[in-house]
Amino acid sequence: MANQAAKPVKITETVLRDAHQSLIATRMTTEQMLPIVDKMDKVGYHSVECWGGATFDASLRFLKEDPWERLRKLKDGFKNTKLQMLFRGQNILGYAPYADDVVEYFVQKSIANGIDIIRIFDCVNDLRNLQTAVKASNKEKGHAQVALSYTLGDAYTLEYWRDIAKRIEDMGADSICIKDMAGLLVPSAATELVQALKDGSKLPIQLHTHYTSGVAAMTYMKAVEAGCDVIDTAMSPLAMGTSQPATEVMAKAFEGTEYDPGFDQNLLAEIADYFRPMREEWLASGLLSPKVMGVNIKTLLYQVPGGMLSNMVSQLKEMNAEDKYDEVLEEIPRVRKDFGEIPLVTPSSQIVGTQAVLNVVMGERYKMLTKESKDLLVGKYGQTTKPVNKEVQKKALDSLGMKEPITYRPADDIKPQLEQLEKDCAQYKQQDEDVLSYALFPQVATDFFKYREAQQTKVDASLADAENGVYPV
Ligand code: CO
Repeated sequence: MANQAAKPVKITETVLRDAHQSLIATRMTTEQMLPIVDKMDKVGYHSVECWGGATFDASLRFLKEDPWERLRKLKDGFKNTKLQMLFRGQNILGYAPYADDVVEYFVQKSIANGIDIIRIFDCVNDLRNLQTAVKASNKEKGHAQVALSYTLGDAYTLEYWRDIAKRIEDMGADSICIKDMAGLLVPSAATELVQALKDGSKLPIQLHTHYTSGVAAMTYMKAVEAGCDVIDTAMSPLAMGTSQPATEVMAKAFEGTEYDPGFDQNLLAEIADYFRPMREEWLASGLLSPKVMGVNIKTLLYQVPGGMLSNMVSQLKEMNAEDKYDEVLEEIPRVRKDFGEIPLVTPSSQIVGTQAVLNVVMGERYKMLTKESKDLLVGKYGQTTKPVNKEVQKKALDSLGMKEPITYRPADDIKPQLEQLEKDCAQYKQQDEDVLSYALFPQVATDFFKYREAQQTKVDASLADAENGVYPV
């Protein structure tokens, strides 16, 4: 008998994107994904996150794969399940802002090639940086999800979250996601946060967190009880640690309750069996490090994402200053405060982390400002949550020859880019989408285009050889 009060939690599976990005540097290949797609399509997921984020860069750069081709193959396989991608607002899938015409074209092509849901975020939560992508997604009939980068600090009151949820609804988004990239959201705070978002808007709420600090599964439980509609999980062989809570575990935890997603545990077990041997291989090759698999409670202490800590260690190593680790850890929250208490997520995490290292190693704070720090301080990444430190901002303005920080939407400064990009990559183009790969990563894409051509020449030659009887057929 159907339970009248049933409100099954929906689940987004991340094993094909965030899970391998978080655990094995985004190295899962399309070939490794395709054989299991059929079974995954039968689970009943709300969506499968399989594209965007770092997968685009990693495909071209390390795997020598066309990311667009991957998307089309996944779309062929997933006949019943929505495909989801992660999109960095005006930065698309890169690290710096692009012109509106590039953002619009990227959204159009992503949807045309198979994406249903676009999760769009901005590293300083400036909604103006999301406007173009949201509008483009609306136009192409995609689902535009606005993701708020979750962080802690004086500025982030429940009023802040309630107010921004309302603004997201007003701007035409289809749902809201809390993107807790560092695993900072603890269970009791999740209850309050979900309630605040629900008070602010009528949109569905999705929660995305990482297991890094060990609280994620409990946080999901509390969030769902508070009305959260969708959660992000990963199949167990690629779950936990710096990845998401395990799909099987969360489905089991809700089984028999009003939130039961109704998943078949036997089917989930078969899918896990497929990924498990890969996990063993990645462990054996060192691609999967035990370091990212445990609980790192320091992320709660320092409120720093796991990836930022490992970056920092390698920067200090390069400078022969590994003994400064603790000092830098203490400097990070101070820099973050000077920079307007922004969230720490790509690329702001790299900007704050690098500046903190410089402040400590140079022996004087802000003796040297990186180009990215200056840009952030003068408003080129958008409006920060709190005002930045005026003294430090003055330094940045002076060195850039500016009188005033910019207060308009940063991309208003960027002229249309598409026409020139088309010209620049014309000689390599084999499909419309190539110009977008080139726009984001000109050098990496060019190398890939050359590699692709060389492969095709090889195939042509061997086919000819076969026809001529050079090789046994
Ligand atoms: Co994530």
